[in-house]
Amino acid sequence: MEFIITDDYDGMSRRAADVVESVVEDDGACVLGLATGSTPIGMYACLAADQAAGKISFADVTSFNLDEYVGLAGTHDQSYRYFMDQNLFDKVDIDKTRTNLPDGCAEDLEAMCADYEARIRDAGGIDLQVLGLGHNGHIGFNEPRADFPVPTHPVDLTESTIEANSRLFDAIDDVPRQAVTMGIGTIMKARKILVVANGEGKASIVAKAFTGPVVPEVPASVLQLHPDVTVVLDREAASALDLA
Ligand code: GLP
Repeated sequence: MEFIITDDYDGMSRRAADVVESVVEDDGACVLGLATGSTPIGMYACLAADQAAGKISFADVTSFNLDEYVGLAGTHDQSYRYFMDQNLFDKVDIDKTRTNLPDGCAEDLEAMCADYEARIRDAGGIDLQVLGLGHNGHIGFNEPRADFPVPTHPVDLTESTIEANSRLFDAIDDVPRQAVTMGIGTIMKARKILVVANGEGKASIVAKAFTGPVVPEVPASVLQLHPDVTVVLDREAASALDLA
């Protein structure tokens, strides 16, 4: 596990964008696994600026997002499809027909999840998976539980996640109670993983996830078992981390 600790959010965003760009430079037709949340917004802004400046192209990239709320159409401004369009897809030269998110409005969620896994497999697997970190250690929407769920699956969100994400909705009752997420197995199969986290609020979960025991109650701790993980943090998020 490689740790990159930067002075501030802008530094974290820049260094994270560099990691993504190095994968795209190596293989223009790579498969990126992408994440939502406030943390990667600055990284996406760097990618969009670099594409506009002609430093990088996403024209041949395929992407798969980690997760989506159940019941929100892509036109809903809190859906993750909408987030990705706003923050990245509409700002770069990616072919939108090659951008994939789980369909949270599918009638048969289980079948949709199986199809999502098959599409990732058919694309050759994920070369780089970007991850944010929930305050309870969730990655994607893999909430703390008694086991590590393996494939893409529907999930009931915990009260703490609903509360944390309610800041983006008009009212807490508007936050969907369910989501669809890549499983821990889907994430662990990615060839390379990039985790981003910033701010004091993430300091204790960063320390727990990356230096504590590997347990499903802290889903991100499983990343300690992956052979190629880069964690990009600002100083505040790294403040409880004892790497000695
Ligand atoms: C959400 C997303 C996660 C994200 C997490 C942290 O629940 N499903 O993928 O990593 O929250 O979000 P933020 O970056 O806003 O702290």
